[in-house]
Amino acid sequence: MKKDFLSIRDLIREEAHELIKRSAWMKENDFRSNILEGKTVILIFEKASTRTKVSFEVSIHHLGGHHVFMTPAESQLGRSEPLRDTARVLSRYAQGMVVRTFGQEKLIELARHGSVPVINALSDEFHPCQVMSDLLTIYERSPDFEALNIAWVGDGNNMSHSWINAAIHFPFKLTLAVPPGFEPREDIFQEAQRLGGNVHLTHDPLEAARDAHYINTDVWASMGQEEEQKARADAFVGFRVDDRILEAAHPEVRVLHCLPAHRGEEITDAVIEGERSIVWDQAENRLHMQKAILEWIYG
Ligand code: CP
Ligand code: NVA
Repeated sequence: MKKDFLSIRDLIREEAHELIKRSAWMKENDFRSNILEGKTVILIFEKASTRTKVSFEVSIHHLGGHHVFMTPAESQLGRSEPLRDTARVLSRYAQGMVVRTFGQEKLIELARHGSVPVINALSDEFHPCQVMSDLLTIYERSPDFEALNIAWVGDGNNMSHSWINAAIHFPFKLTLAVPPGFEPREDIFQEAQRLGGNVHLTHDPLEAARDAHYINTDVWASMGQEEEQKARADAFVGFRVDDRILEAAHPEVRVLHCLPAHRGEEITDAVIEGERSIVWDQAENRLHMQKAILEWIYG
């Protein structure tokens, strides 16, 4: 059976842990292989990307494969060719699809009608590849994830959902602080609680930051929400990751941001450029994690 990776819920616990260990090893050994030799992976991106696009393209190359990059503007996707038709046709040419899109249902449809694996490169609901590499970034500093306080300060968005999913598999405490009205999806949150995830929700950013070993944030308006930018900036006052938030945290706190960052909005320039920031390692780790994910699917 083909393996799709549409959310972290597609992994069982052992697989999630193995991906972290394997990607760390790949990083240490500057891993190359030929597992994708003779294979083509198609990247379909309906939203902008720097890190995800380039790290997937480079990983596919490092594994001996070939990629094709597609956007709606230059394909029939932008002229309303049904996704199910696209999925069936591309499955005849290539061995996989890495897809950045809007609704998760689009990924599900591609995966259902395509006969090749589909990887979620970000949807409105989830960003699983990003959070897996964020976990690698934490593992490099805190390998057992035990007794870790991880704070999410900001929007209850796709990134927050993937963090909530991750809490099902890893033994950290995750506290999300979001403004009222910007909570993560209730079903995703409740599922994690039901399955033993140590997840908590508050409207107070200082409460989430208290004794945090890692503080994580993301933009206030995600791609597709550009028109809400102003209203969100008003609603998110007090949720900027700044020195005040860091003072509430553990003295050794580290700061994560998946990037791109809007300095002066969700995070200050001083914090992202400061000694607590690990965002450049975090960005690098996208490359190593993509290789581990591709190997998990094709290896
Ligand atoms: N973090 C992330 O997914 O970045 P890109 O939008 O540049 O791919
Ligand atoms: N939440 C952001 C993440 C960007 C990598 C977005 O969806 O735009």
